[in-house]
Amino acid sequence: MDYSKLNKEDLKLILDNEMKKYEEYKSMNLKYDMTRGKPAVKQLALSDDMMSDEYLGDYKTSNGIDCRNYGILEGIPEIRSLFAELFEVTPEQVIASGNSSLNIMYDLISAFMLLGTGKGAMPWVRQGEIKFICPVPGYDRHFAITERLGIKMINVNINEYGPDIDAIEELVKNDPSVKGMWSVPKYSNPTGVVYSDEVVERLASMKCAADDFRIFWDDAYTVHMLEGEPAKQLSLIKACEKAGNPDRAIVLGSTSKITYPGAGVAALASSIDNIAWFKKIYTIQTIGPNKINQLRHAKYFKNYDGIVNHMKKHALILKPKFDCVIRLFEEELGEAAVLTWSNPKGGYFISVDTTYNCASEVVAMAKECGVLFTAAGSTYPYGKDPDNKNIRIAPSLPPVEELEAAIKVFCVCVKICSIRKLLDKN
Ligand SMILES: Cc1ncc(COP(=O)(O)O)c(C=O)c1O
Repeated sequence: MDYSKLNKEDLKLILDNEMKKYEEYKSMNLKYDMTRGKPAVKQLALSDDMMSDEYLGDYKTSNGIDCRNYGILEGIPEIRSLFAELFEVTPEQVIASGNSSLNIMYDLISAFMLLGTGKGAMPWVRQGEIKFICPVPGYDRHFAITERLGIKMINVNINEYGPDIDAIEELVKNDPSVKGMWSVPKYSNPTGVVYSDEVVERLASMKCAADDFRIFWDDAYTVHMLEGEPAKQLSLIKACEKAGNPDRAIVLGSTSKITYPGAGVAALASSIDNIAWFKKIYTIQTIGPNKINQLRHAKYFKNYDGIVNHMKKHALILKPKFDCVIRLFEEELGEAAVLTWSNPKGGYFISVDTTYNCASEVVAMAKECGVLFTAAGSTYPYGKDPDNKNIRIAPSLPPVEELEAAIKVFCVCVKICSIRKLLDKN
């Protein structure tokens, strides 16, 4: 029964009942950490074969480069080709680097602040206040980068097709201080949304007052479907080329959630001119990446199909966990109308909105039971969810039994906090 249709007495009865369950949970000394979207141990084990010596051979690339030695700033040819397939670009448009795409993003934005975006553009720090568009809810670590570097963030809501493109077009049209935009275009963190081709096209072709406007297209989950094949999406790089804005797109990704987080390979793709500029920047920072790890990855996967086949094994482990959360939400909260949730086809998260704006209270209550969820607000710039409604659920790490227990606690907390809000209102 929809809680908003119940009278005070009925609500109080349910509240008493749920409070009893809550106190029981509290006495159980639970200890579950659902804060971050990490792969489970079983998923990590899927890549253990890659550590076999056979994938290193004589340490040489196909064109005879010795991966044990210095050099090859842009990454070895094999891994550039692999990422080129993944990002639908030419290998010359790829730089494969270290172990973290987030690191590339922090680094590039810092470089744009200090040195500009290339082709003589003035460094962003010398252009007064600058701003980034932040689709919300979004990835906390993106927002942390722009906050740390003093870039003002502007929220734009995400709908089922991606970020509100009308709002974005308005923001960039006349304001040259809007320099960039964050995005997780496929199986977005945390909503799971796949940006539509129309959104991709309009982002590529929209008129921007700033010539040095850049889209950080964080394709972290590009092959991370939960079943079947990865969703198809128009290439932002191709759309930008076609629209005459080739330098606008910077595509990023890594094998963090394909092989090992922290021990994978990260890469970026962009226009040939941007790649030349980035190489000028990188050449001062490093002599070259970890080519041994690149070789291992390239030889293990061979090509795009090799990666997709591997991701199907991840999906078999992940899908039952997502199903478990959705099933419990439906069973526990379906009729009460106190929570709405995303039902993603890929990625690492389920995004939920509390109907009665009580996200921080829910997370705090669950914590008292020993069940940790991502802090309320963290899916918004500056950690401030204006409606106090969104929470990111990360089902990947715990085994299904633990996940089930943690979500049951969560549901009880949602019921209690929602009823309290409803009673306060009446
Ligand atoms: C959207 C998104 N981008 C980037 C990352 C981190 O990627 P990497 O390990 O390559 O730094 C994550 C990790 O959760 C993520 O969700």
